[in-house]
Parts: sequence; structure tokens; C-alpha cells
Amino acid sequence: MTTAQITGWGMAAPPTVLSNHDLEQLTETNDEWITTRSGIKERRISHVPLSDMATVAGHRALAAAGLEPEDIDLLILATCSGDTIIPSAASFVQAKMALTNAAAFDINAACSGWIYGLEHATAMIRSGIKQRVLLIGAERLSHYLDFTDRSTAVLFGDGAGATVLEAADEGGVRSTTTGIDGDAAELLWVPGVGSNTPPGCDLPATSGVRMNGREVFKRAVTMMGEASTKVVADAGWELEDVDLLIPHQANMRIIDATARRLGLDPDKVVTNIHAYGNTSAATIPMALTEAIEAGRVQPGSNIVFAAFGGGLTWAAAALTWGDRVESIGTSDAEFPRTDQTAFDLLAPNIEYFGKGV
Ligand code: UT7
Repeated sequence: MTTAQITGWGMAAPPTVLSNHDLEQLTETNDEWITTRSGIKERRISHVPLSDMATVAGHRALAAAGLEPEDIDLLILATCSGDTIIPSAASFVQAKMALTNAAAFDINAACSGWIYGLEHATAMIRSGIKQRVLLIGAERLSHYLDFTDRSTAVLFGDGAGATVLEAADEGGVRSTTTGIDGDAAELLWVPGVGSNTPPGCDLPATSGVRMNGREVFKRAVTMMGEASTKVVADAGWELEDVDLLIPHQANMRIIDATARRLGLDPDKVVTNIHAYGNTSAATIPMALTEAIEAGRVQPGSNIVFAAFGGGLTWAAAALTWGDRVESIGTSDAEFPRTDQTAFDLLAPNIEYFGKGV
């Protein structure tokens, strides 16, 4: 049976760093709290639009797959922080990358978006409707950071990760699961933007990330564990067959709890939350790219991906890696240079919401 395999990978982390110590100047917090409660040490703040980050990651993934832009027949962009409401962020990326033969759309499943996209890309490839899919997870959540709310402002960062999926005869995506509990949507949301807001509405305390962290935490641990267990069983694996868990990077304690539930040793778990914070739909393709570059993905590795996020959504996938762990080519796509500090880039947030200190 035809299956879908990841044949290209790449990431784009904006150059400007916001450390925990920097945050102490913006909100009532400290490095020790953020480190022990979340595992985050620093995050990146983008000086370019989301579609530019996604474009850099996309070019790198195409080069790794040895493909040209015109080879792609579908672009799926997982994001909840696109450049505009209309059109999709995928529309801008299609143009910037010159994906002249591609259909393109966004998926908004928040932090679960890349795995939602993986499920859709797999179905499209298996059915023969599409042959080569560029699947990008990208977020610019810094736009929604409100430093008067220290419980969310310290968690999120910007970044993009991209993957190419192509048809293969064996291995590849073996099982996926996706779900949502819309009744709990308001436990994690950005109210105050969208068509349910009066035109021109510009009230303070709108359009920042709002989250009931404790409640989301409990549900994330439960659902990432359940979803992972399900895809392992559906793949026909035992838990000891799993070589690598690449989880959504929201909180180190959620990752540890998920790994414990699966009985996985820490050396089988990929984490980079310390460096980038929670980049929502981008965390998994970014972590995958770093894992490949660090030599942690081997030919034939059995990998589990798991995520949880706004919606409230959850998702997991089981995949057997192919033979190739080296990039075919490299891309010279790069961010434009900037001298702006994270404080410069976040000045509009401070002006709109105020500081938390
Ligand atoms: O990616 C989408 C999914 N998102 C998640 O999965 C995030 C899930 N939630 C979490 O990761 C955690 O709940 C947080 C990291 C957000 C919070 O950790 P927590 O251990 O659940 O802390 P808490 O909300 O129970 O707050 C504990 C204390 C409170 O003070 P009191 O009431 O005990 O005096 C907070 O006011 O920590 C205080 N606090 C802070 N202190 C310093 C909250 N935020 C901060 C902060 N710095 N930034």
C-alpha cells in the first residue's frame, strides 16, 4: 500500500532572543519560576511576518528533499497566528516560495496543527489526490503577548518548522489520531479578534493569549498520553518499539509526564523547549529537524509525535523513518538582518497592553 514518508525537513528560528532575565523587566516574574514550572530559558521574537518565517523553513525543507518549488502540489500551513484573517497565511507563502503548481490552505488546530496536517497530507498522498505535500507549522504568537498576564506572557515564542511528504512503498506514517473538545475552547484562546468582535473594537485586555494553565495542563497530560498509546497500538507496535517521542513543547513537566505514562526513558524524548518556548504548531517540526541534525533519527526509527493545544485539540502520529537521514541539498534562504532587540520588537505590545511590572 502507498504510504506517506517525510523526505524533507527544515526550521527557521528568528535571530532575536528574549531570555527569562529579559522578561523580568516586562512582567512580575523570575528566571527560577519560569525554569522550574515550564523548562523554558529563552524564546525567539520575530522581526518578520509569519509568512516570511514559514518561507525560510519551507525552502530549507524543499532543499533537504531535493525538490524544486514547482514539484509541490499541496501546501498545508498549520498556524493560528497568520499575517491576516483573509487570505490564509498559506496564500502568502505560496507566492513567496513560488509554489506555482500547489493548492494551499491553513489549518488552525493551534498546537496540534502540524499533526492534524500530517494526517491530512497522509490521506491525500495515500488516495493519490496529491503527490508531494509541503507541511509547515509556523507561529508568531509574540504578537498576542500581554505582559500584564504573567501566566501566559512567559510561555510563548516565534518560529517555523517545515516537512515535505512524498509517497513511499513502506514505512512512513503508520497511524494517526486527532480530536477536539470544543466545549473547553475558552480554557485557551485569544478573544477580541475575529468577526464576533464589533468592527474597530480596540479595547484593552482583548487579543492577548488567555489560558487556564492548570486545567489545560491536566488535560494535556491525559490526552497526549492516551493519543500516543492509541497510535502505538494502531501501528501494531509495543511501547518498547518506540525509538523516539517528539512531543509538543508546551511545558517540560507535561513532556516528562507523557514520557512516564509511556514508560519511555528520557533519552528517547526530544526536547528543545528551553531554547524556543512554546511555538505552538511549530514545535514538533522544529524539534524533528533538530533531532535529525543531531543524529537522533536513524534509518527505520519508529517515531511518535504527540500534541495538545487550543480548541482544545489533541493529536498523535506514529511513523517509521525511511532510509535517508541526510539532506539532499541545502538552501541559502535566510532571515533579513536586524539590529532590533526583543524589547524593540515588543514595544507595540507594551504600548497596547502595558507592562506587568
Ligand atoms: O500549548 C498549548 C497547551 N498549553 C499548555 O499545555 C500549558 C499548560 N499549563 C502550564 O504549562 C502551566 O499550568 C503553567 C506553566 C502555565 C503554570 O504553571 P502552574 O504550576 O500550573 O502554576 P499556577 O498557574 O498554578 O500558578 C502558581 C503560582 C501562582 O501564584 P499563587 O496563586 O500560588 O500565589 C501564580 O500567580 O505561580 C504564579 N505565577 C507566576 N509567578 C512568577 C504564574 N505565572 C507566573 C510567572 N512568574 N510567570
